Amino acid sequence: MKKNIDIQDVIFKIREGLGLVPKELIGVDIGQSSVKISKIVTKNDTYKLVKYASVPLPEAAIIEDEIQDEEALKEALEDAFKEAKVTEPYICLGLSGPNTVIKKLQLAGGDDEELEDQVIWEAEQYLPFPVEDCNIDWYVIGENMGGGLDVIVCAVKKDVLESFKSIIESLGKIVKVVDLCSIALTNIYELASEDDDIESNINNDFDDEVFESTSSTDVNKVLIPSSLLIDIGSQATVFIVLKKGIPVFVKEIIIGGASITEEIQRQLGVTFREAEDLKKMSAGGGVPDDVLMIINEINGTLVNELKKAHDFYINATSDDSLKNITVTGGSVRLPNLLEEIRSSFGVDVSVLNPFNEIEFNESDFDDDELNAMAHEGVVSFGLALREFPK
Ligand SMILES: Nc1ncnc2c1ncn2[C@@H]1O[C@H](COP(=O)(O)OP(=O)(O)OP(=O)(O)O)[C@@H](O)[C@H]1O
Ligand SMILES: [Mg+2]
Repeated sequence: MKKNIDIQDVIFKIREGLGLVPKELIGVDIGQSSVKISKIVTKNDTYKLVKYASVPLPEAAIIEDEIQDEEALKEALEDAFKEAKVTEPYICLGLSGPNTVIKKLQLAGGDDEELEDQVIWEAEQYLPFPVEDCNIDWYVIGENMGGGLDVIVCAVKKDVLESFKSIIESLGKIVKVVDLCSIALTNIYELASEDDDIESNINNDFDDEVFESTSSTDVNKVLIPSSLLIDIGSQATVFIVLKKGIPVFVKEIIIGGASITEEIQRQLGVTFREAEDLKKMSAGGGVPDDVLMIINEINGTLVNELKKAHDFYINATSDDSLKNITVTGGSVRLPNLLEEIRSSFGVDVSVLNPFNEIEFNESDFDDDELNAMAHEGVVSFGLALREFPK
């Protein structure tokens, strides 16, 4: 049996060496509630979703970014690959959670080597884990007013990356690119939003220990208004401040759809599944008042946290130029939530529609699937859009 696997491996390597393995990436987003995978074909600036699957994960299979139930995750990934008929080997894996960091830094600047030293030195100051335990990438976003350089630094803890990578590789796939989910989100925003200010083109990854890319935009210019991009998922809500489509501030708030489900479960004495069903039915009405009360209460707590995150950003940067808010994630369908965000921030709130720019064959997906994909699939689309590394 062992010999058989080795031979297949050798054949794969030969085919790969001969350029016979298609250089296409499958985006894999492992969220707390489900695994989402997708394949997007890019041709002459058009994008077409050709494969998609979402497979639920059992409760607590993943907590924050740590895998609690390897078997369950492996099974869900395997089912997703099967359902979407994924035969392609290469994966772009998204990571998020407390073992990942994204931060904008102001550096003195200099040549590549000097910049690398500055990034590492700064990273040592603020990373919640030792620099040698993580992969760090960065990209330059432009000169700042002090004459130095603004740089976005992304870091991910190596052991967390390894834990996800080894499960995917045990299914015969190859993790070719690793990206932060928040960066994947901003890439879809850049593609699909109708925001005229956007100019960036981010394509960084964790293939190399250290990475840099360039863009000449000075996002500090006071005149450039900011936008918020908010992903309201299951275990967490990701809050991103964008300037010209560039993420200048990212914060993860540990409140999401599961916070509501767990509270319904606790207060009504029902199972997690039953609580999920009650929550999902709530938008259409006809659910007990106590369910709506729980939803409204947790919506309120979440909106307060979003406001606090934004106030923190304003205090740190004096930038109160907020122009609009775009939301995504499965929990945007909660009743009253978007209205509450709108009234609290006083700006327009819209739901990101990835299908503004991404095409698909109507016969491939039904309306429910499309609706779910439009909210929950966005991160996996952003991952699937990444270029195959040269
Ligand atoms: N119709 C609906 N009404 C309310 N909530 C919904 C509805 N459909 C899905 N959700 C909620 O959306 C959440 C799943 O969204 P999503 O797939 O974006 O999260 P995730 O990626 O799994 O989680 P995370 O990003 O936090 O790890 C769940 O909490 C689910 O209950
Ligand atoms: Mg998610």
